[in-house]
This record gives sequence, structure tokens and C-alpha cells, in this order.
Amino acid sequence: MTAGQPFAEWMKAVQSGIEHALDGFLPPVSEAPARLHAAMRYAVLDGGKRVRPLLVYGAGELFGADSAVLARAAAAVEMIHAYSLVHDDMPCMDDDALRRGKPTVHVEFDEATALLVGDALQSQAFQVLSEGETLADPERQLAMLRLLARAAGAGGMCGGQAIDLASVGLTLALGELERMHQLKTGALLRASVLLGALAGKRLEAAEVAALEAYAEAVGLAFQVVDDVLDATADSATLGKTAGKDAADNKPTYVSILGLAESKALAEKLRDDAHRAVVPFGEKARRLREIADLVVQRKA
Ligand code: IPE
Ligand code: IPE
Ligand code: MG
Ligand code: MG
Ligand code: MG
Repeated sequence: MTAGQPFAEWMKAVQSGIEHALDGFLPPVSEAPARLHAAMRYAVLDGGKRVRPLLVYGAGELFGADSAVLARAAAAVEMIHAYSLVHDDMPCMDDDALRRGKPTVHVEFDEATALLVGDALQSQAFQVLSEGETLADPERQLAMLRLLARAAGAGGMCGGQAIDLASVGLTLALGELERMHQLKTGALLRASVLLGALAGKRLEAAEVAALEAYAEAVGLAFQVVDDVLDATADSATLGKTAGKDAADNKPTYVSILGLAESKALAEKLRDDAHRAVVPFGEKARRLREIADLVVQRKA
């Protein structure tokens, strides 16, 4: 992947690279238990925008990270994300039948399998990040594992999902909504950025601060746009059920700020993201382009 490559080409190369890596890291259907393996592969492969892997690779370009290490980090975070979607769609949570243009895992297989797919993907993610030729520097590898564990757990994605479910029917203050989004979506996006950077080198405090400011803005923008698209796009375009937030009485940016203000906020966050990575100069090109993609996406 060359620095001068147009963004669309770079993105396609990362997406097909990560597809290949995930395929190799997931257990084969030829091995037992075949049905669980099939459902794991169904949940992860051949779908999704792969925004988190893009962030891992984009941040990896800052410090010339090794591509084998990036592949493991990107696959690990995408597995956690895919597991979060499988559980998010289950009847006990958002009760959705459509995901990435296909029937959700509990519909295509069954609920017990969907539960186990999530459990197994979470373990698989940490296995992938801890194995292999990954790093010559064990301290950095431990930092990467710790980062992903924290982002996925009660202080990150799971905590955000808990707040989301507890907020049905409530009118949240803007700060509370922001906190929920920072956890349920922002935590894994932040981890993606820091994993990519850490794959390159040990980070200075100023570098961490700049990357966190970038990730905070992109993470929030991502969920603001997710809320806007839920209210404005159709199910065929999204590959998931549109209009679900309002139907379920979920507090969202759209329900609190309205559409126009939500869109304006996403634009402001994009500018914040660009500003945050100024210290990295031209090397942050992909991170800037990903911030644009997150705000401009139509699905
Ligand atoms: C959807 O995530 C759930 C949120 C965290 C908002 P994505 O929009 O990244 O879903 P995929 O991976 O592209 O399907
Ligand atoms: C899901 O948020 C966030 C996670 C899975 C952690 P949403 O419930 O808004 O995601 P969609 O809209 O179903 O993709
Ligand atoms: Mg949800
Ligand atoms: Mg949902
Ligand atoms: Mg949503």
C-alpha cells in the first residue's frame, strides 16, 4: 500500500486484506463443532464496512507498523465488534432480524448459537492478538491486549450497551447521551486507533493524547451518523432495520438534537478529528480520510 494511493483503493486493499486475515484466523467448518464454526464465520465474514480495521491500518501508517501485527490487531478488534453486533441483535437486546444485509445470527441459526458465537468470538479475538509472530516487544503486546480488554468490557462497549438498554424511554441530557455513545461505540474505535499506533512503537504521552482526541471525535461522529442514518436511510441501503431507534424509543442524537443539528455536530466533530492529527503531518492522511468517510457515509 503506497502513500500516494487514492483513498478508495487503499480502503479496498485493507478490506480485502482483513477479509483474508479473518478467514485464516476463524476456525474452519471442516472441524467440529461445525455449526458453531459456521455461525462464527457467518457473523464475521463477507460483510460490514470494516471501519475499525481501517482505523487500525490508518494509525499503523503513522509509525510504520508491521503488516502482520496490524492484521492481528485489526482482526481482533473486528471479531469483538462482530460479536457485539450478534448480541446487540438478539431478542433480549434490540431484537433485530437483519444485519449486514442478511438474517441475523439468531434468526439464521438459533439463539443459543448466537450467544455462543459472541462468547467464542470474544475469546478468539484475544487468542489472535496474543499468538503468532506478533511482536518482538512483549511489553507492547501486553499493552495491546490490555487496551482491547478494557475497550470491550464493562468500562467500554459492554458498559455502553448496558446504559443503552437502561435508557429506553428516557430523555437523556446531552452529556449522558454522549457518555453512552463514548462507551458503546467510541471505546472500540479508540482502541482501534491506539492498537494501530502501538503496533508501530511505544507511544509518548503527547502522541497518545493526540490520538485520543482524534478517536474521541471520530467515535462520537460515528454514532451521531449511525443515529442520523437510522432515521433517514432505508433498510436496504443500511443492511439493517431502519427506523429502529424511534420504534424502540431509544434516546439518540436525532431524538435530542434533531436532524439538522445532529448533522452539523458530525461536521464539527470531523473538523475536530482533523485538527487533532495535525502534529502527525502527512503521515495522518489516512486518518483524516477515515474521519471524512465516517461523516459522509450513506450506509
Ligand atoms: C454498527 O457498526 C453498530 C455501531 C457501533 C453503531 P458499523 O456501522 O461499523 O457496522 P458494520 O461493521 O459496518 O456492519
Ligand atoms: C450497537 O449500537 C453498538 C454495539 C453493538 C456495541 P446500535 O444498536 O445503535 O447499533 P445498530 O444500529 O443496531 O447497528
Ligand atoms: Mg443497540
Ligand atoms: Mg442495534
Ligand atoms: Mg444504531
